[in-house]
Amino acid sequence: MMKIKSRFKDYTVEFVDSLEEWEILAEVADTFFVIDRKVYGLYQDKLPQLPQERLFLMEADENKKNMDTVLAICEEMTGMAAKRNTHLVSMGGGIVQDITGFVAANLYRGIRWTFYPTTLLASCDSCIGGKSSLNYKGFKNLLGSFYPPDVIRIYPQFFHTLSPIDYCSGLGEVVKFNVIAGEDGIERIEHDIDSILTHDYDKLQQYIDTSLMFKKKFIEEDEFDKGVRILLNFAHTFGHAFEVSSSYGIPHGSAVALGMVAANYVSVKRGFIAESYAKKIEAVCHKILTNIDMQSEWFDKEVIISAIRKDKKQTNKDITAVLIQKDHSLGVYRDVTVEEVIESVDYISGIVLGVR
Ligand SMILES: NC(=O)c1ccc[n+]([C@@H]2O[C@H](COP(=O)([O-])OP(=O)(O)OC[C@H]3O[C@@H](n4cnc5c(N)ncnc54)[C@H](O)[C@@H]3O)[C@@H](O)[C@H]2O)c1
Ligand SMILES: [Zn+2]
Repeated sequence: MMKIKSRFKDYTVEFVDSLEEWEILAEVADTFFVIDRKVYGLYQDKLPQLPQERLFLMEADENKKNMDTVLAICEEMTGMAAKRNTHLVSMGGGIVQDITGFVAANLYRGIRWTFYPTTLLASCDSCIGGKSSLNYKGFKNLLGSFYPPDVIRIYPQFFHTLSPIDYCSGLGEVVKFNVIAGEDGIERIEHDIDSILTHDYDKLQQYIDTSLMFKKKFIEEDEFDKGVRILLNFAHTFGHAFEVSSSYGIPHGSAVALGMVAANYVSVKRGFIAESYAKKIEAVCHKILTNIDMQSEWFDKEVIISAIRKDKKQTNKDITAVLIQKDHSLGVYRDVTVEEVIESVDYISGIVLGVR
């Protein structure tokens, strides 16, 4: 069991090998369930009968990651007698997490929340750290708060039904953590990526563990994203832009993998890292991107620049990005130019469209 320290409450992450505990959860009248509709369909036979009046099924769709869905859930939850004692139990990927984290933080100024991540991305990365984000007026993740679950329960059997695209998207964040860890991390993932891609779950579980342990250090030191935690945004300046420019055809973790290649292009150009080092990372990223049918219009430079400018972390004329520096550590650079972005997008589109 992993314990995470937080200003709100300390919380735990545990692997479980069955969903039997749901029998008990279903019997407690104070519990309200929010579940990804697709996951519910796939795993209904492993779950007890859940009372309809305490169950909300939601589509995991970026267009539903908004205030309307939050309010629809609150509408049902405020009808419960338990009020502030309500226990919210949610099951799904990052979208269900973002929505239910927002509800848990705000309904009655904070209620008990247990989260069962069902995607690799949510299990290895987003489930800890306490961020919740909603899309607003065409802006990605513009509204949000910090509020962690009380308990996170990871049931790795869920990964069996993930589409290859969603499985690889989760691997994007796993690769990111290993790249941030430096040369040893890159060599480790380079060595293991093929077995993870063929669903070696023992190996995968180790990588989930090490990813969470790695993230834990950053969020415990800087829970509210004012200092070192910003470094975890490595690859996300470009990554968010690729998500938006592809209208989410490139899912989050895969966009992060592309974002790593883009950021490293700038690092090579600036003489921070050797081209051979960037190529090593690129080769691993390439392996997890082959499932996506990349479209040339997703790499429209104007759309990408405008998406970067809309990102909440961009406060300057020049662009802010986290880059790998000379000693292979990470640094925040607030002087990335539009020209550098354009060149790196050219480079990326050359690779991903060329290999189709
Ligand atoms: N709050 C954070 O810290 C944080 C961090 C990273 C990403 N995010 C957000 O997370 C979202 C992406 O989340 P995600 O990649 O976990 O996936 P998701 O929630 O977008 O789900 C992706 C797809 O997988 C399906 N699915 C989920 N579990 C499944 C399973 N076990 N078997 C079969 N299908 C399953 C969903 O129905 C959906 O179709 C983005 O909105 C991103 O912005 C949040
Ligand atoms: Zn991410």
